[in-house]
Amino acid sequence: MDRKILFYDTKPYDRRFFDEANKKYGLEIQYLSEHLNETTSAFSVGYDAICAFVNDNLNARIINDLVKNQVSLVAMRSAGYNNVDLKAAFGKIHIVRVPGYSPYAVAEHAMALILCLNRKIHKAYSRTRDGNFSITGLLGFDLYGKTAGVIGTGQIGNCMINILKGFGMNVLAFDKVKNKEFAGTAGFKYVSLDELYKKSHIITLHCPLTPETKYLINKDSILKMRQGVMIINTGRGGLINTRDLIAGLKSGHIGSAGLDVYEEEGEYFFEDFSGIVISDDVLARLLTFPNVLITSHQGFFTQEALTNIAEITLANVKEFYDGGYLKNEICYRCDGKCKKNLKQRCF
Ligand code: NAI
Repeated sequence: MDRKILFYDTKPYDRRFFDEANKKYGLEIQYLSEHLNETTSAFSVGYDAICAFVNDNLNARIINDLVKNQVSLVAMRSAGYNNVDLKAAFGKIHIVRVPGYSPYAVAEHAMALILCLNRKIHKAYSRTRDGNFSITGLLGFDLYGKTAGVIGTGQIGNCMINILKGFGMNVLAFDKVKNKEFAGTAGFKYVSLDELYKKSHIITLHCPLTPETKYLINKDSILKMRQGVMIINTGRGGLINTRDLIAGLKSGHIGSAGLDVYEEEGEYFFEDFSGIVISDDVLARLLTFPNVLITSHQGFFTQEALTNIAEITLANVKEFYDGGYLKNEICYRCDGKCKKNLKQRCF
């Protein structure tokens, strides 16, 4: 396929998986390590498409730059697309994404955060390596019989529910669209957010970041939660008001937090800052809590997920330039569904 595509924000592992997948597609790929921003959008001159990731900026101005440079497609190599101004893009440039490349990867990571935080594996690991075999302070609780609250029962939320049920937990869920059939077979109950907050020992977030879900977890919702609740976020950082989370941790109302995402992660996550002073005081404060576990947006990071991301991204690009129906197109009107029943592109 004689098409040129420019990749932003790539790391060696991206290049490895995309080069492998591209053997089948024969695209002309150029990899950049820079994020897409108001300066680097200029690099897109001469490319048919660009490929972007979770911390690239696709605001209205950058979308307009891409359109001006005659880029016709933005291929997101992610499931989430909260960083794309879909309204600005509509009618001018097509946007595709990779839904459901491996919901298992993210749900398994969320469970890893729960297990690690609850049994304090992060502390035990450093203790024993230091010759300290004391278990004082490592007390956890049985997951069996406790209640987990799952917010967002899409692909990842559903995997998570199966995992939690496997541990013998009671599961309560909240979603604006209820999957009643799955609730019946998996054996969980949809409840209101307030009931979920009140009854859950662990709350795990699997909904997208939208204007409606921005700061879903804030000082008011935290007050409705059980004393000592564990909060897990592998969704998007903006689902949590971090300052309110810190206040909840300091007061002890929140027992622990496992965060794979952070609202200001763009500058730090995926990069090595080990020799540099962190100037973000909120992130720095979070890192001081013994009961907070932060991972650097690695929920998706499995071999299977990277293989699928590369394959589906390039298949999306091929579909677009072959003139076919774009099943993974997103636009601000459709929320993934516009004209899909007619098997037509969004515009
Ligand atoms: P999905 O689209 O299959 O499911 C999302 C669910 O959230 C849907 O059931 C939807 O109805 C629900 N939802 C939407 N608005 C809601 C609201 N206001 N309140 C409650 N529920 C609401 O998406 P999927 O694949 O399960 O991914 C979920 C999110 O996980 C993504 O949007 C992304 O932000 C995040 N993600 C994180 C990754 C990581 O590496 N940490 C990797 C992949 C996704």
